[in-house]
Amino acid sequence: MEFQFILVDPAFHPHIALVKLNRPKELNALNLQLMLEMKQALAELDENDEVRCIIITGNEQAFAAGADIKQMESRTPIDLLKIDQFETWDQIRKTKKPVIAAVSGFCLGGGCELAMTCDLIIAAESARFGQPEIKLGIMPGAGGTQRLTRVVGKALAMEMVLTGRFLSAEEALKAGLINKVVPDEIYLDEAIKMAKEIAQMSPVAIRLAKESVLKTFDTGLQEGLNFERKNFYMCFASEDQKEGMKAFVEKRKPEFKGY
Ligand code: CAA
Repeated sequence: MEFQFILVDPAFHPHIALVKLNRPKELNALNLQLMLEMKQALAELDENDEVRCIIITGNEQAFAAGADIKQMESRTPIDLLKIDQFETWDQIRKTKKPVIAAVSGFCLGGGCELAMTCDLIIAAESARFGQPEIKLGIMPGAGGTQRLTRVVGKALAMEMVLTGRFLSAEEALKAGLINKVVPDEIYLDEAIKMAKEIAQMSPVAIRLAKESVLKTFDTGLQEGLNFERKNFYMCFASEDQKEGMKAFVEKRKPEFKGY
C-alpha cells in the first residue's frame, strides 16, 4: 500500500497492521491528503481478513501536532464547508477492527482528536496531549470538545480547550484519556503486545464488542459534532483566526482583538 504521507504495513506482525504518520518535518501535521490516505488505508485494512488489529503511530517527536495550520490559514468558512474534511474523520471512526494509537511526543489538536478516535492509547512518558486550537483563535473541530469531555469530564476538558494547556502522559493516564504510560523506548513494543493479545481473540467477537462499546458514545454525539463543526467554520469568519494563524507562521505572539 503506497501513500505519500503515511507508511502502511498490513503484515507488520502476524494479524497486526501498522500505519505510520510520515511528515516528520511538519511534526506529522494532518493535511487533507494525509487524512484521505488514512481513510483509504483503514478501509483497506478493514477489508483484509489477515488483519485483526491496527496500530497507528507517529515518531518519537510527534504523534501529530494537529491539523495543518499552513493549509488552513487562508480558508474561509465556505471553503471548509465545501471541502467537508471531517467526513474523512467520520469514516475513520467507522473502522470495524480495533485501532491502537501508539503515541510519543506531541499529540495535539487534530492529533489528539485522531488518537481519541482510536480505541486504545499507549503513550510514551514523553507524550504530551492537548487541544491548543484556542491559541490560534479557533477551537477544536474534529471531535475535541465532544470526545474529550465525554472521556475526561467537563472540568479538565474546559481547562484544556479554554487554555490550551498540555497534559503529561501521567496526567492523561490519571484522567482516563489513555490506557498506559511506558518508558519512551518501548511504547511501540507495548502497543504491539496489546495488539497481539487482541489479535488472539475472535475477530467476530472483537468486532461486535468494539461496536457495542462505541454505541455508548453515540447517543447525542453526532448532534454535538455537527454543532461543533458549524462553530469551527464560524471561527474562520473572525479576524482573530487570521491573526492567530499568521502569528504562528511568523513565529510571533498573536494579538487577538475579539472580532
Ligand atoms: N501545522 C502546520 N505546521 C506545523 C504544525 C501544524 N499543526 N505544527 C508544527 N508545524 C511545523 C512548524 O511550522 C515547523 O515548520 P518550519 O520548520 O517550516 O517552521 C515544524 O513543524 C516544527 O515545529 P516548531 O518549530 O514549532 O517545533 P517546536 O518544537 O518549537 O514546537 C509545537 C512544537 C509546540 C508542537 C508547535 O509546533 C506548535 O505549537 N504546533 C501547533 C500545535 C497546534 O496548534 N495544533 C492545533 C492545530 S489546529 C487543529 O488541529 C484544528 C482541529 O481541531 C482539526
